[in-house]
Amino acid sequence: MNNCRVVVSLDFPDAKQAIDLCQKLEPTACKLKIGKELFTREGPALVERFINMGFDVFLDLKYHDIPNTVASACRAAADLGVWMLNVHASGGRAMMETACEALDKSTHKPLLIAVTVLTSMGDDDLREIAISNSVDEQVMLLAQLSKSSGLDGVVCSAKEANHISTELGEKFCLVTPGIRPVNSKKDDQKRIMTPAEAIAAGSHYLVIGRPITKAVEPLVALSAINAEINSVI
Ligand code: C5P
Repeated sequence: MNNCRVVVSLDFPDAKQAIDLCQKLEPTACKLKIGKELFTREGPALVERFINMGFDVFLDLKYHDIPNTVASACRAAADLGVWMLNVHASGGRAMMETACEALDKSTHKPLLIAVTVLTSMGDDDLREIAISNSVDEQVMLLAQLSKSSGLDGVVCSAKEANHISTELGEKFCLVTPGIRPVNSKKDDQKRIMTPAEAIAAGSHYLVIGRPITKAVEPLVALSAINAEINSVI
């Protein structure tokens, strides 16, 4: 495993575009995130291909099901050799603990992190599913539950990183999207932070898509982001 903090989000509809990009990147300079669209189209073979190219892969499938099913899926992902995978914390303690136990038994143990509240949801959406907590309260509650269930960390906004890190300790792994270098396009992200700000707030890994994937020279864009990160760690 390498020490880089940038996880490039491969938001592509097919393998060709993802592979074209990854051939321009370097496994020592970044990790990769494969989500539901690319995985559903291309399957485990593409994950294995990137691992064989030397990349650490975060398999972002957000498992949420009964404990036995989630544990088996986590084990299958571990057998693929992924570096990180995730579940929905709202699946509850039994689901998360059973997933951790399954991963403890695997020879290659990936990091297991949780999604707390989807950033597409607001207080009104929570009320509609009978959750009276505010989004902030629910994020903290689920982050605490994830930690006490044995998970390695959570996905969160960089804006929440400082608070979670203070409450749950610096070792609890925080993976943050919504990152934009100064002067880059915001796209559809609303609450953004720069790479340096996110690291200073306590983020361990920064999930970054378009500022790298849409750059004319992706490796140059990635190198500039890594230089900015290295200037604050
Ligand atoms: O291109 P961009 O840097 O905005 O991509 C960010 C990635 O992180 C996308 O894959 C997006 O779906 C994901 N993500 C996010 N916000 C969250 C959770 C995941 O932007 N709260």
